[in-house]
Amino acid sequence: MTKVITYGTYDLLHQGHLNLLRRAKELGDYLIVGVTSDSFDRGRGKLNVRNNVLERVEAVKATGYADEVIIEDYLGQKIDDIQKYDVDIFAIGSDWMGKFDYLNEYCKVVYLPRTEGISSTMLRAESQTSYRIGIVGSGRIAHRFVPESKVVNGAEVTAVMNPDKEKAEAFAQMHGLTAYTDYDQFLQNVDLVYVASPHLTHYDYTKRALLADKHVLCEIPFMLSKEEVLELYRLADERNLVLMEASKTAYCPAFGHIVTLVKSGIIGDVVDVKASLSKMVPPPTRELDAEQAGGAMTEHAPLTLLAIIKLLGIDWRDVDFHSRMENGVDIYTKGVMNYPHATASFTLGIGVKTEGNLVISGTKGYIYVPAPWWLTDFFEVRYEDQTKNKKYFYSYDGEGLRYEIQEWLSIIVNERRSCYKLRRRESVAIAEIIGKYRNHENVTEI
Ligand code: CTP
Repeated sequence: MTKVITYGTYDLLHQGHLNLLRRAKELGDYLIVGVTSDSFDRGRGKLNVRNNVLERVEAVKATGYADEVIIEDYLGQKIDDIQKYDVDIFAIGSDWMGKFDYLNEYCKVVYLPRTEGISSTMLRAESQTSYRIGIVGSGRIAHRFVPESKVVNGAEVTAVMNPDKEKAEAFAQMHGLTAYTDYDQFLQNVDLVYVASPHLTHYDYTKRALLADKHVLCEIPFMLSKEEVLELYRLADERNLVLMEASKTAYCPAFGHIVTLVKSGIIGDVVDVKASLSKMVPPPTRELDAEQAGGAMTEHAPLTLLAIIKLLGIDWRDVDFHSRMENGVDIYTKGVMNYPHATASFTLGIGVKTEGNLVISGTKGYIYVPAPWWLTDFFEVRYEDQTKNKKYFYSYDGEGLRYEIQEWLSIIVNERRSCYKLRRRESVAIAEIIGKYRNHENVTEI
């Protein structure tokens, strides 16, 4: 019996797939089809797949060509499968010509003719409305947003708004966009708004965008008080709009996995979370300007609080802060939070350097995420018995903004209004703690 194996995503199954599967089956007597898992696709940068793995497996089965369907979940699995299933022929479309020659060591490799004029990518593009994204602000993060948005289907950055004409035009020219200095005019020409302006302008720009019926993704610090967040979520609800906090770590695959591992109990009950983030910034810069809400707390608390709140929840009892001030801004803040059965602390610096790691301690073990933990691509679960330790590796593609952009578009397209990766009540809790600090509640200067 001749065994053939082939692999693919098989999203929105189309005629090209059918032709390929038929030809592969004709090469032998028994056809095994490897369908990629959702996490494997995400890990290799394929972010826009529409059908989930179960739907894709069902679609492949329904073709009637596959004698067996397996899931492809890791790099290098093809070599294992070929040996495990005693495969004679590996077949794949000619778009991969030459790429799988290394498998010749294990079986015969056949490149089958690819069907011209059709692909899943093409079908996804055809069925999707393309949104025009406008960016408010033209700083560092805005520059990173544009190339990241290009890897996500369904949206295109078309406009930038900055009241400073020169800055708006320079940014627009660099990225091929239209520049606006008038916010109302800008709002008339975009569908979605990404707010990446200075901290103190977030509330106003976001509110006006919602009032103009635009979905909004707003950079961190999202809002500077609980009241502001609650008001804007209410407004978004009334108008059936998506308002999302651009806390990029929340949407990154490895961070999501840490949260689910912890919740599934692998380190027992969580008793302490320690999150640190320090980035030295040379003056003059808005981070060191009290007039622009600068300071370690507004700069870095959103990400560290994200980790604490995702892991320990929103029912904290009290929080106090210890800050070293310079020219009216905290160049260092340490916050300590108490929960009924756990403690948490965050250490933030813009004029003090420290190790930016994340340690989650539990009754059975702990998770260690090295600096920079907020760009999570590796972590380790550690136990007293070190032979049980386990390391987890991930790819963190580009600047990582693609994951949050993808999530934002996905909830808009699928008509959901919020996202479990960062729930609204969690955003409210983060803003509440930042608001307390800004109101000088429980702040001690050191
Ligand atoms: N295939 C083909 N003809 C096409 C499209 C795909 O023969 N027009 C083959 C591929 O070469 C591969 C298999 O179908 O052997 C599964 O490919 P997959 O990546 O799932 O399909 P695409 O439509 O190419 O998907 P995408 O656009 O997402 O890359």
